[in-house]
Amino acid sequence: MKTVYITRRETFNAAHKLWNDNWSQEKNEEVFGRCSNANWHGHNFTLFVTVKGTPHPDTGFVINLKDLSVIIQKEVTEKLDHKNLNLDVPFLKGVLASTENVITAIWDRLIEPVRSHGGELVKLKLVETENNYVEYFGENEPF
Ligand code: NI
Repeated sequence: MKTVYITRRETFNAAHKLWNDNWSQEKNEEVFGRCSNANWHGHNFTLFVTVKGTPHPDTGFVINLKDLSVIIQKEVTEKLDHKNLNLDVPFLKGVLASTENVITAIWDRLIEPVRSHGGELVKLKLVETENNYVEYFGENEPF
């Protein structure tokens, strides 16, 4: 059995700020700098979703990329695109909207739908700026 890793890329843009309600404005500014700006700032996010599996004998596919794209759009990008991550997104309610916290919330939304299409979600990569991105492997810690 040959295991293949396949990745789909999707994009969304969204606003957020980094802010801890338990801290003073001074402390927030000290820790989060410009990212704590009260009137928000935005990013063009790029999400890479990697699924592992064995190519199906009938299709040669690990997972149909059209299906994977629809899952990501329905579960993630339609919910986040043109939204304020701090205010507008039910599944991020009460979550400090760092890229790290957003990626783990995305994982929780994708793992079951991907599984029900015969794939195993193994990695997410969320690019926030050209210099910053985060990766998450769920329970599949690679290191
Ligand atoms: Ni930011």
